[in-house]
Amino acid sequence: MTVSLKVTILVDNHAGPGLATEHGLAFWIETGSTNILFDTGQGTALGPNAAALGIDLAAAHLVVLSHGHYDHTGGLPLVLGKAAQARVHCHPGVFASRFSIRDGAARAIGLPAPAQAALEALPRLRLAQETTGVRWSEHLGLTGGVPRRAAFEDTGGPFFLDEGGRQPDPIDDDQSLWARTRHGLVVITGCCHSGLLNTLERVRAVAGADRIHAVIGGFHLSAASEHRMAKTIEGLRAHDPAQLIPCHCTGDAAVTALQAALGDRVRPGAAGQVYEW
Ligand SMILES: [Fe+2]
Ligand SMILES: [Fe+2]
Repeated sequence: MTVSLKVTILVDNHAGPGLATEHGLAFWIETGSTNILFDTGQGTALGPNAAALGIDLAAAHLVVLSHGHYDHTGGLPLVLGKAAQARVHCHPGVFASRFSIRDGAARAIGLPAPAQAALEALPRLRLAQETTGVRWSEHLGLTGGVPRRAAFEDTGGPFFLDEGGRQPDPIDDDQSLWARTRHGLVVITGCCHSGLLNTLERVRAVAGADRIHAVIGGFHLSAASEHRMAKTIEGLRAHDPAQLIPCHCTGDAAVTALQAALGDRVRPGAAGQVYEW
């Protein structure tokens, strides 16, 4: 038995005609019996794009947060206001204060205050905080925190837990969704701060070893060194996925490098695209 999956890119840094873009990510995932909103973008594009694509956010059964960054959590008040029964799944680490520090200037990039308030207002039964993920069925689950095995994979940016830049943020809350389809495993990532190969290893460990058929989401390789890109490509060749759909924070240079190495199977995502597995 497997699960069938329909994934619509609701929010992305790129978009098809008539749709809003922002630096953010949200996917609408339909499994037949369950509708999942995976991430919520910053909050500005989610509502208009859902309306334009005929997606009723009120029909969400589950809301998943890939991690606590603002560009994945800002739309929480909107969706939780509409989907009165939806249950939220996240790692407890999403609540951490966190910053990006560039040229000495710290910028808060954690949960925006309205998103935090929306989570805190949920009845306890509607907020599932899991460090090791969840398995909704034999064929569908979340990775939970991803062990960091590959030395060349870092979180991908100047991320800290304090404004002074003393404590690096390991982004322990980063997780991905996996589904076993008739083609093989499909992996849906947020920013993939754990590293793409670490994430794929984790998926194979929790799902039971199986072929990775497709990976869709942010790969966060915009700051990746040549060494990391080369090792990432080598690792991807070994997994041999049929489809890679880089979105959001992957980075243009990284997309070009992936396409040069892996060819046609790499097709960048944009809001409005629909995939069925
Ligand atoms: Fe992101
Ligand atoms: Fe992120």
